[in-house]
Amino acid sequence: MLELTKSTIYLATNNMNKFEEIRNVLENSKINLRVINIKGNEIQAFSVLSVARQSALNIAEKFEGAFLVEDSGLYIDSLYGFPGPYSSFVYKTIGVGGIIRLIKDRENKNAEFHSALIYGENGKIIKNFVGITEGTISTSIKGEKGFGFDPIFIPNGYNKTFAEMTIMEKNKISHRAKSTGAFAQWITKKLDNA
Ligand code: IMP
Repeated sequence: MLELTKSTIYLATNNMNKFEEIRNVLENSKINLRVINIKGNEIQAFSVLSVARQSALNIAEKFEGAFLVEDSGLYIDSLYGFPGPYSSFVYKTIGVGGIIRLIKDRENKNAEFHSALIYGENGKIIKNFVGITEGTISTSIKGEKGFGFDPIFIPNGYNKTFAEMTIMEKNKISHRAKSTGAFAQWITKKLDNA
């Protein structure tokens, strides 16, 4: 039987939800995704791309193999993009309930999830991929699946939150599935031409 030879790429994260989502997108690709517990410094910057790039630079200094690093955040219109790059801290402190309370009197509930995914190998950054998904912040917490702000984010065109979707459904539209999908296309071509 002909076996598909897979290339191993290491995702630098300690968030297994992110790992599962990215692995799921890459399932039928030539990539075998593994986790590596290595952390880059997180700088203060407005865009997740700048944060991810700095993190990737640090990882590339310590790791010679092929790696991915992803940084993501929730950008809320009426809060001028907050929490954005502070999403992780805000989630751990005021949580999803805190976000609902912060914008409860705002008419504009629009928000975007951003994902920046960086690929590196041989101690260098090679390419970055960005994905954005637009939606609204719900007025209550709904759903048990997913992680982070999933229970309060309703993607445009749907009437349920990310936390009410299976990983397959979320992966049809999510910011992370978009950045990972763009990476999958690029790496497939690269491996085919190798
Ligand atoms: P970081 O990318 O590890 O810095 O984490 C960003 C934070 O943004 C996470 O801890 C979550 O709170 C939030 N976040 C990023 N992506 C998602 C998502 O797909 N669903 C829900 N929350 C997310």
